[in-house]
Amino acid sequence: MNKIAIAIDGPAGAGKSTIAKEIANINNLLYIDTGAMYRAATLKLLNSNISFDDKEKIEKILKNTKIEFSNGNIILDDINVNEEIREPRINESVSKVAAMPFIREILVSLQRGIAKDNNVIMDGRDIGTRVLPDAKYKFFLTASIEERAERRYKELIEKGYQCSYEETVDEIAHRDKLDSERTVDPLRKAEDAIIIDTTGKSINEVIDIILNIIRN
Ligand code: C5P
Repeated sequence: MNKIAIAIDGPAGAGKSTIAKEIANINNLLYIDTGAMYRAATLKLLNSNISFDDKEKIEKILKNTKIEFSNGNIILDDINVNEEIREPRINESVSKVAAMPFIREILVSLQRGIAKDNNVIMDGRDIGTRVLPDAKYKFFLTASIEERAERRYKELIEKGYQCSYEETVDEIAHRDKLDSERTVDPLRKAEDAIIIDTTGKSINEVIDIILNIIRN
């Protein structure tokens, strides 16, 4: 029997992961945060202290890297890195790492493997366009840059990081620019995806919109 797949794409801070997690709980789907996979790969490279220009070494390191999910946790080489991958130093570098074609090849193939064996809701930047182009439901979540930065800023402050709202706006805008302008699998709405602008909407409102569509 074909597995169910729901793809959720959109820029940083649009609420994708919060909403996807909730829908996964309600509908008994496996939630896959593909951003966490790119973040884990970035953490590994930063910890290995190599230049991002050294393609050969990067390939070698990543071929010997295990990135997995276990009970909603992201596991890098058998270690839970849920917290570490959200650090500002990862935000700064992840879009550079995610633009490397061979890294995308490795991660896209892992993501497709998971979707082949499970009913999934997967969020990211290229799920509807590249990872799961045949997904039954595709959503593209957006929100104003101000609101996305405000949400991200609150999260960072709650976690105890020192940063300003303005820095958060810059970080998000920079990441969106790199993600949408890269050559390989850029951030883009799939033609058949439904756009949801979450500006001014509560999490529950957005969840209801999605649930109404998938239940009909
Ligand atoms: O979703 P999140 O903001 O955690 O993603 C972190 C970064 O990972 C993005 O800014 C993007 O560079 C990269 N990413 C990607 N493709 C995906 C998911 C994330 O390029 N499917």
